[in-house]
Amino acid sequence: MNVLVVGHGAREHVIGEALVRGGAKLYAYMSFKNAGLDELSDHRVKIDDETNFKYIIEYCKEKHIDFVVVGPEKPLCVGIVDALESNGFPCVGPKIEAAQIEGSKVFMRNLLDKYKIHSNVKGKVFRSMDGVEEYIDREGEENLVVKPEGLTGGKGVKVFGDHLHSKKEMLDYCESLASQRRRFLLEEKMEGEEFTLQTFVDGKTVLGSPLVQDHKRAYEGDEGPNTGGMGSYSMANHLLPFITKEDVDQALKDMRDVIRAIKAETGVEYKGFLYGQFMKTASGNKLIEFNARLGDPEAMNILPILQTNFVEICQAIINGYLDKLQIDYEKKATVCKYLAPEGYPKSPKDNQPININQERLKKIGAKYYYASADKRDDKIFTTTSRAMGILGIAESLEKAEQIAERGVGCIEGNLFHRKDVGTLALLQKRIDHIDSLLNK
Ligand code: AMP
Ligand code: GLY
Repeated sequence: MNVLVVGHGAREHVIGEALVRGGAKLYAYMSFKNAGLDELSDHRVKIDDETNFKYIIEYCKEKHIDFVVVGPEKPLCVGIVDALESNGFPCVGPKIEAAQIEGSKVFMRNLLDKYKIHSNVKGKVFRSMDGVEEYIDREGEENLVVKPEGLTGGKGVKVFGDHLHSKKEMLDYCESLASQRRRFLLEEKMEGEEFTLQTFVDGKTVLGSPLVQDHKRAYEGDEGPNTGGMGSYSMANHLLPFITKEDVDQALKDMRDVIRAIKAETGVEYKGFLYGQFMKTASGNKLIEFNARLGDPEAMNILPILQTNFVEICQAIINGYLDKLQIDYEKKATVCKYLAPEGYPKSPKDNQPININQERLKKIGAKYYYASADKRDDKIFTTTSRAMGILGIAESLEKAEQIAERGVGCIEGNLFHRKDVGTLALLQKRIDHIDSLLNK
């Protein structure tokens, strides 16, 4: 099987690894050279714009590609799957209409409203400043978050109390979006603990995977600006200590309902990965966002412990027989820590060399995935986004965290990471938080 991965990050690196493990002959198309994909594919890589469909189609024809796995949201939201499939190349990823579940927060909230999806939250869409102040006065600024329409790499949402500290700051942010003619949402602010549920979808069947918790904030103790995610963990029992099996079942039901709603609304069957980010609150599980792809870093928490052949899963997604498949995972905990360039996300230092002690990483047993790190002349350099994901896998969270932390010590460069990701201390804080919200 000749399989092409589109995308340049750590999510695509781990997807490529799972495909090769499943027996695929890997090809990679990406905007700059990911050293991991370069190696896994035996240098069968093409470097170009990930939304230039003409080039991607030409590359697929030239290499006789059997199917394509699209990693990132950007090409999905502008129709890469439509373009490739109409040229005869099947894809793991949703078509453009279905991908709007991530591409447009307005589409997503309207869909959840219309189809009365259980975990929906209250919000209102604005196109200008008309009615914004009245809405803020009615709801109270302390109860709101502001979300710009469109893709923001996880960095556009501003939450009162965290990023916005007064009604004026909220109005100013709304004004800046309105002046760029961007639509935005004012949404009910929720309090609780977040969890990620990643699923495989073939149009009808939706299969879940181990729960993961990401860390959106840049600095330890959940301080600082939002990022694409600074690290993530999963537990050996595939749940989180503060999330019950019933919570997961409810979340999965909502994801199945959303897949049906997308079909009813657009006529398009959703195929690919669907990522649900939920928050457990005092009044139940609430939906924060859907992504039309696997999570980054969260893909690194599920694919390396996958026991079922990933190539087979991709084929089942494409051909619609996921219901015939049983997907298994090792009963292990995982901790992924992201190394980001100093200054990330506000003023990241790019073009800085990164040195990787591969031998020591191997000895420690840590896995490592290249993210937005550019390979040039056999050297690795930072770009303006997260650079490398270091992963520990073990029987317990504690051990997985130690492996990841020791692995981080094998990477040299102008980089920083969150030491607290995956620690028992932070986990206890999450448990106490939920207990206090639920008045236990
Ligand atoms: P998003 O880009 O939608 O993933 O949002 C980024 C982060 O903002 C989420 O991970 C949450 O931590 C936070 N967030 C988003 N929506 C809300 C909300 N309605 N209430 C509280 N926090 C939110
Ligand atoms: N880790 C969050 C995301 O992939 O969107």
